[in-house]
Amino acid sequence: MTDTLVIYYSFSGNSKKVAEYVKNKLNAEILELEPMVPFSNDYDQVVDEWQNNNIKRDVEIKPINIDLSKYSKIVLITGTWWYGITPVMKKFLKENDLAGKDIIVAASNAGWIGHCFKDYEAFVKGNIKGKLNLLFSANEGERDKMLTSKVELDNWIKQL
Ligand SMILES: Cc1cc2nc3c(=O)[nH]c(=O)nc-3n(C[C@H](O)[C@H](O)[C@H](O)COP(=O)(O)O)c2cc1C
Repeated sequence: MTDTLVIYYSFSGNSKKVAEYVKNKLNAEILELEPMVPFSNDYDQVVDEWQNNNIKRDVEIKPINIDLSKYSKIVLITGTWWYGITPVMKKFLKENDLAGKDIIVAASNAGWIGHCFKDYEAFVKGNIKGKLNLLFSANEGERDKMLTSKVELDNWIKQL
């Protein structure tokens, strides 16, 4: 039985790819967060809708059917939406208390990470041991190209 859980939300696949890498590396279990009502498939439409995160309502998320108390180590990975962590991850952190657990966090982004780490610090009640600026390309057509090195990624994982 593993004591490590990777929790991620990924709109366009970048965080998912890294979450699966970490899961395999640590022999961990994995939990994908999902919004109750899916966002549009149209990337630009979602970017426009969430501009400046001026949608104030919380995004509801699907129920988590995993017992978080079984895990003492947690990996959190999500994208950056308008300079902050995604509303899906925020909602998860508001609803779930990770106090007492060791945690590493990553914000996948295209060069404007903004206040993601501050958001994690504000919403995570556990013990944040490592933070990763998970940089991907901002160029259209290669937004799935990871620019953060494998060495940086592996060093971040080792902080857990
Ligand atoms: C609604 C929306 C807002 C975004 N805002 C930012 C931003 O503020 N800063 C940034 O660097 N990237 C921004 N991006 C790009 C994503 O954070 C980046 O492509 C990330 O790697 C996506 O992760 P994912 O594929 O796991 O969803 C935004 C993307 C979307 C869809």
